[in-house]
Amino acid sequence: MPPPTYIVIFGASGDLTKRKLLPALYALSCENLISPNIVIVGFARKEKSHEQFRTELGKAIKQHSRFKNEAETKGKHSWEIFAKRIYYYKGDFSNAKDYTGLLPFLDSLTSANTDPSNRLFYLATPPRVFAIIIQHLGKAGLVSTKSSGNGWTRIIVEKPFGRDLETAKILNDKIAAVFQENQVYRIDHYLGKETVQNILVFRMSNGIFEPLWNNHYVDHVQITVAESIGVENRGSYFEEAGTLRDMIQSHVLQLLTLIAMEPPAAFEANAIRDEKVKVLHAIRPYAHTDVDNHVVRAQYGEGHIDGNATIAYRQESGVNPNSNTETFVAMRLNIDNWRWAKVPFYLRVGKRMAKRLTEVAIYFKHAPYALFRSAGCHIIEPNVLTLRIQPNEGISLGFGSKAPGTAIRIDPVQMDFLYETSFQDAQPEAYERLLSDCLTGDSTLFARRDEIEHAWDLVTRIIHAWNDVPRPQLPKYQSGSWGPDESDNLIQKDLRKWRKT
Ligand code: NDP
Ligand code: BG6
Repeated sequence: MPPPTYIVIFGASGDLTKRKLLPALYALSCENLISPNIVIVGFARKEKSHEQFRTELGKAIKQHSRFKNEAETKGKHSWEIFAKRIYYYKGDFSNAKDYTGLLPFLDSLTSANTDPSNRLFYLATPPRVFAIIIQHLGKAGLVSTKSSGNGWTRIIVEKPFGRDLETAKILNDKIAAVFQENQVYRIDHYLGKETVQNILVFRMSNGIFEPLWNNHYVDHVQITVAESIGVENRGSYFEEAGTLRDMIQSHVLQLLTLIAMEPPAAFEANAIRDEKVKVLHAIRPYAHTDVDNHVVRAQYGEGHIDGNATIAYRQESGVNPNSNTETFVAMRLNIDNWRWAKVPFYLRVGKRMAKRLTEVAIYFKHAPYALFRSAGCHIIEPNVLTLRIQPNEGISLGFGSKAPGTAIRIDPVQMDFLYETSFQDAQPEAYERLLSDCLTGDSTLFARRDEIEHAWDLVTRIIHAWNDVPRPQLPKYQSGSWGPDESDNLIQKDLRKWRKT
C-alpha cells in the first residue's frame, strides 16, 4: 500500500478534480489501496471553507464516483469519513506568499493526522500556469529531491504538455530546474486504461502472437480513436489545441508505441519507456512539402448522432465561427525499423464521429496461395486481429470458415474475447491506477521527457507544414459519419480501406 502522503491538488475547484481525481482517490480508499492517513489539500483561488469544499466534492462524488453509497463501499468507507482528510487552501498561483504559507499549513494538519512526510503535487490547472507553479514550489522550499529521511516529493503534470516541441522542451527544462526526472509523472490517462495495459500482456505473455507481429505477416495496422461527443464545454481549449495536439501527440502515439515496440529487457519503467522511445525515433519524418500526402485534417459540420441533430464545430460555444481548427485527423505513418519496414500504420481520430470506438486492428497478409480459387472462392478477407480499447472492451480474431453446405464457400467469422464476460470485477478508472502507481513510485505508465519530446517532434513537423500553407476552409465531415472523403482517399490510394465497424 502507498505510504501516508500529502496530496496537494492545484486547480482543486476545476472540472478534472471533480470528475476524475477525487472520485479516483475515493475509489482507492474504498478499495483499501491508499493509506487511511492520506491528506488531500485543494489549492485554488476562490475563498471557501474546508466544509464548503468538502460539500462541493461530496456532490461531485455522488455524480461521478463508482462508489456512490454505503452499500457499494461495503459499509467501510463512507464519504463523510474520507472527507475529513480533505482541506482547502486559498491561494493564487502567481503569488509567492501563497506557497510559503503552504508549508506551515501542511504542518498544521499533521497534529490532526499521523505524520505524512511524503508530498505529491498534482497540476490540475490550465497548462499556461504549470511552469509558474513549479518555480514557486521550488523557491518556497516545498520540493525535496532526496528520497530518504524526510520522505519523497513527486509531481504529476496534466496534459497538454506544451504546444509544440519548443514549448515542451522549455517546460521540461523548467521542471528539471526544480525536480529530478524520477520525481516527475507526466500523465496520459490512456496508459491507465486496463485495455491499454493489456496490449503488452497480450503480446508478451502469450507465445503465439509475437512471432507473427512483424512485417513478414502483418500487412498494415489501423488505429481508430473515434468519439461521438463534440468538444462539450471545452470549446475554447479545443480551439487552441485541435485533434493533432489534443489526441495524436499523446494518447494515439502512446497506443502506437505499445503496439510497435520491441519486448523490453525487463518489466520495468525505464526498460519499457526505452523501447517506446525507439519506436518514436524510427517513425519516418514527413518532408515539409509531403505532409498533405500523408495527413488529412477536417472539421465536423452539422449532422445526427443517435438520431439527435447536432451542431457544427463552428457553432459550439467558445469556438470562433470562422475557425479552422481540426476535429479530425487521418494519417499514414511508416516505422523505419527491422520489424515494421513497409508496414504502414493508419491513424484515424476524430470527434462527432458515427460512434464511440477506440480500437487497434492488425491486418495480416493473405495466405501465400489461394488454394480454394479453383472452387470459386476468389476473395477471402484477410485475418484481422482487433484490440478493442473501448467500449465493449475485448479482443477478436477474424478468420475465414467454410460455410455449411455441399459447396465450398468461405465466410468471415470471429473469435471473441470480451472483458465483461471473462472478468466479473469492475474495471478501475484510469486515474485510480495512475494515482496509485505514482504514490508507490512506479512511473511505467507515465511519459518520460524524451518520449514527450519525440512525440512532439513528429507532431510539430505537421503543425509547421500546416501553418506554412494555411487552408482557407478545412474539409468538412458530417457529424455522425466516419470522417471526410479525403480520409477514405488516403487509405484507398494504398489499395486498402478503413475497417467497417
Ligand atoms: P478548469 O478550468 O475546470 O479548472 C482550473 C482550476 O485552476 C480551477 O480550480 C481554478 O480555480 C484554478 N485556477 C486557475 N487560475 C488560477 C490562479 N491564478 N490561481 C489559483 N487557481 C487558479 O480546468 P480543468 O479541470 O478542466 O483542467 C485542468 C487540467 O487538466 C488542464 O491542464 C486540462 O488540460 C487537463 N485535463 C482536463 C480534462 C477534463 O476533462 N477536464 C481531461 C484531460 C486533461 P478557481 O475556480 O478558484 O478559479
Ligand atoms: C482527453 C482529450 O485527453 O481525452 C479529450 O483532451 C478527449 O478531448 C478525451 O475527449 C478522450 O478520453 P476517453 O478516455 O474518453 O477516450
